[in-house]
Amino acid sequence: MDITEQQHNEQAALWNGRGGRAWVDAQESLDQLFAPFENLLADEARAASARRVLDVGCGTGATTLAIARVLGAAGHCVGADISEPMIAAARARAERTAGMQASFVCGDVQRHAFEPASFDLIVSRFGVMFFDSPVQALVNLRHAAKDGAALRAIAWRSAADNPFMTTAERAAAPLLPNLPARRPGAPGQFSFADRDRVVSILEESGWAGIDIRPIDVECTLPENALHGYLTRLGPVGLVLQDADERTRTRVTEAVRAAFEPYVHGSEVRFTAACWMIGARAPSASDTREEAARA
Ligand SMILES: C[S@@+](CC[C@H](N)C(=O)[O-])C[C@H]1O[C@@H](n2cnc3c(N)ncnc32)[C@H](O)[C@@H]1O
Repeated sequence: MDITEQQHNEQAALWNGRGGRAWVDAQESLDQLFAPFENLLADEARAASARRVLDVGCGTGATTLAIARVLGAAGHCVGADISEPMIAAARARAERTAGMQASFVCGDVQRHAFEPASFDLIVSRFGVMFFDSPVQALVNLRHAAKDGAALRAIAWRSAADNPFMTTAERAAAPLLPNLPARRPGAPGQFSFADRDRVVSILEESGWAGIDIRPIDVECTLPENALHGYLTRLGPVGLVLQDADERTRTRVTEAVRAAFEPYVHGSEVRFTAACWMIGARAPSASDTREEAARA
């Protein structure tokens, strides 16, 4: 992808810069934290008897590789992501596992030229909330899907439903006056929180069979990974990367104390409140039904 074009895009800059590097460094903890979602999407691939699967916003590739394992030698899973450091980490991981039917493309899925009608399942673990134009992205993905192919994407419900995810910024706010505020609906972690908005995006992008269900998933992290998590990731982690030593120490102490309710011995536990977003690329029968209704 053209690098100058990326510089105009806040999200591309974030994921190719400190955001992406922090995810690469925390890969092991994050994969452990989000393993239940990887399993849900691997189950979807199994249930769909899929052959060719696309993993959108694949990051460092855990879900892509889990699905490639399910597909076996006859299948293939492609991971697509805008972040060069994350794709490099994903490729390195795939190379460490012989015979893995997985490959990775680095590009913006809003405009990447995927082979038309080439996937029979499109999945995403938290990779669809960062588009400037979600409709453009979902239209592009629909073109990449075969007729009748399924979409299964996991996204966060609201910040209010996910207090664990905003613990750090609430605790750090008095100490970090320049902490950027979350902008409802803007590209970011909670941009798909509003179910009606997601339905409109999918309808406008031409997907059929829209079925969006709440899922509440228990997630765990070893307690000794919490420090790295809160000092590197999320809005506070990003600001801390530039903070002076005194601010870092004060913020880290305040934030660590605020996470105490989630710490149970050697484990950190919380419930992730998410959507399982389901849809289908229209098939010939959908088109006939639509024509009959018109
Ligand atoms: C929250 S991370 C999730 C990563 C991965 N799916 C996982 O669960 O570990 C979001 C991912 O979406 C990617 N992303 C953001 N905007 C994108 C775009 N326009 N095209 C492709 N990937 C994008 C980011 O680079 C990042 O890897």
